[in-house]
Amino acid sequence: MDSKKTVVLGVTGGIAVYKALDVVSRLKKEDIDVHVIMTEHAAKFVNPISFQSLSQNMVIVDMFAEPKAWEIQHISLAKKADLMVIVPATANILGKVACGIADDMLSTTIMATKAPVVFAPAANTNMFLNPIVQDNITKLKQYGYKFIEPESGRLACGDVGAGKLADTKLISDTIISMLYDIKDLRGKKVLVTAGPTIAPLDPVRYITNRSSGKMGYAIAEEARDRGAEVILISGPSSIEKPFGMKNINISTNEEMLKVVEDNFDWADIVIKAAAVADYKPKEYSDRKIKKNEDEFNLLLEKDTDILKRLGSKKKDQILVGFAAESHDLLENAKGKLQKKNLDYIVANDITCSDTGFASNDNRVNVLCRDGKIIPLEKMSKKKIARELFNIINEKR
Ligand code: CTP
Repeated sequence: MDSKKTVVLGVTGGIAVYKALDVVSRLKKEDIDVHVIMTEHAAKFVNPISFQSLSQNMVIVDMFAEPKAWEIQHISLAKKADLMVIVPATANILGKVACGIADDMLSTTIMATKAPVVFAPAANTNMFLNPIVQDNITKLKQYGYKFIEPESGRLACGDVGAGKLADTKLISDTIISMLYDIKDLRGKKVLVTAGPTIAPLDPVRYITNRSSGKMGYAIAEEARDRGAEVILISGPSSIEKPFGMKNINISTNEEMLKVVEDNFDWADIVIKAAAVADYKPKEYSDRKIKKNEDEFNLLLEKDTDILKRLGSKKKDQILVGFAAESHDLLENAKGKLQKKNLDYIVANDITCSDTGFASNDNRVNVLCRDGKIIPLEKMSKKKIARELFNIINEKR
């Protein structure tokens, strides 16, 4: 986001109201100005003071509480909003908006705003699946209202089924993504690889590289937020799969090679942030290897250099590699850029203790095909992803 954004968060009355607090907190962490409007029913579940403390703005419940201000207030919030989101959205608010009813602060603001409006519904399964509610949702979608669909699961009333409020991280990530100003990757197809690959030795053991996947996931999310269609091919990683893209899980070099090659012609930009295992055990044992010997020799054979192979058959794709180096950073990275026929290579020094691997930050140099080197100071992996696409786009 380039400029500070304003989100008007509507809260309607259901047991999931408390979860909306977490959404406010997540948005505030992204420096978003959040204004909360609660319905009277919502205020019976959670005291407005909680929302006020987290949002650091007055919470509006009663439209007529301040006779001097109310008339302006719903219009000014409606105008101020870059986006409105209703968390949780009850069957009641969906019905009201679908029928054009504006009888309280929240419904009038929804009616008055020109900003995108997103509903995150939560309701008892039978209520949510009621054909009237479903018809209202269909109607609202036709009018351009967006939905973050509820999950299926155990509901507060004890029933199991659809109607559970979507995960709060998903809700806030979706909002943040929608607020993104730069949509310069719209129409582009971006293929990203992330995380490590593994090379199995026997059914319980394998060799691998250190990699959390954070850098690759940040790149894939940035591409999505800027409007690209994204495929994320990931080795084993504990990070939650990002929404809004095709996620493909792989384990070995061979599996990654196949998926990457299958999708190479589809892609406009390929970014290989994965830490691919260069060697695999020459022989795989079907049975668990027993510790009978004092010494154990492990013979490894070279596996495919996936990026090099892509470089050799690249047509119009922009190909970006990573270089993790412990010494001679720029020299080694430059060598890889040329050898693998890349357009860019992102080089990082793995000996720095405050960046790299599992860290949220990184400090890198981006080497371009034309010899230019762009140093990026220590910053979050998210920001590095952003800078990387800025560099790629300027160079087109
Ligand atoms: N890479 C790849 N296939 C491999 C090894 C690496 O596609 N078998 C890709 C990585 O995803 C990365 C780039 O090549 O984008 C450089 O990886 P790196 O491990 O830094 O270098 P290597 O080429 O493996 O060389 P070395 O291990 O000798 O430093």
